[in-house]
Amino acid sequence: MNVQVVSDKQAGGRAGFKVFEQALAKGAKVLGLATGSTPVTIYEQLVASNLDFSQLTSVNLDEYVGLNADHPQSYHYFMQQHLFNAKPFAKSYVPDGTNADAAAETKRYDDIIKENPIDLQLLGLGQNGHIGFNEPGTDPESTTHKVALTESTIAANARFFDNADEVPRFAYSMGVGSILQAKQILIVAYGEAKAAAVAAMVQGPITPDVPASYLQTHPNVTVILDEAAASQLD
Ligand code: F6R
Repeated sequence: MNVQVVSDKQAGGRAGFKVFEQALAKGAKVLGLATGSTPVTIYEQLVASNLDFSQLTSVNLDEYVGLNADHPQSYHYFMQQHLFNAKPFAKSYVPDGTNADAAAETKRYDDIIKENPIDLQLLGLGQNGHIGFNEPGTDPESTTHKVALTESTIAANARFFDNADEVPRFAYSMGVGSILQAKQILIVAYGEAKAAAVAAMVQGPITPDVPASYLQTHPNVTVILDEAAASQLD
């Protein structure tokens, strides 16, 4: 793993942008994208740049089951706001949260990933070591699957919804195995709350208890951290 420590999120945005720029210069055609707070400064850099995505394909990691693309809490909507409105891709794929048929939707998404092998996958890191919605215990060979959100995630999300019934209970997520198929991976983490997960990901044993630890088995991973997130590395 190539670990880079930067001063803050803004510097992380610039360092992450460079990884995208270099991948595109080498001919990357399919970008795997993530939502959440971590990628925001990278997306800001991409939006401000001259890079052109109009011939490229994007494939997102995950989406809540039950939310349509226009719902402000959907990951579709997040991507529109932070990247796609400013920088449209030729094709952008996000799991379809409105498809109630999980078997059909996860197969459809796995077929999309097969047809569009990901050149560079961007990831954030959960405090418990999750990547995508792959929580501790997830099969490292997993492909796209339906995930039951934990009670703590449901409670944490409740503040974003008008009505408790609207809070998603499930998500569709690429699996750990799907993520490891990407040719190159960029994982970014900021803040002290992520420090233990970062140390476990980079230096801990490879174990389903820390899904991100499987990134140690991948030949081309860049890790961008601020000093707080790097503080438990030896
Ligand atoms: C987002 C995703 C999640 C987040 C992770 C970190 O698509 O799959 O794994 O990357 O939960 O979230 P933030 O960046 O909000 O700390």
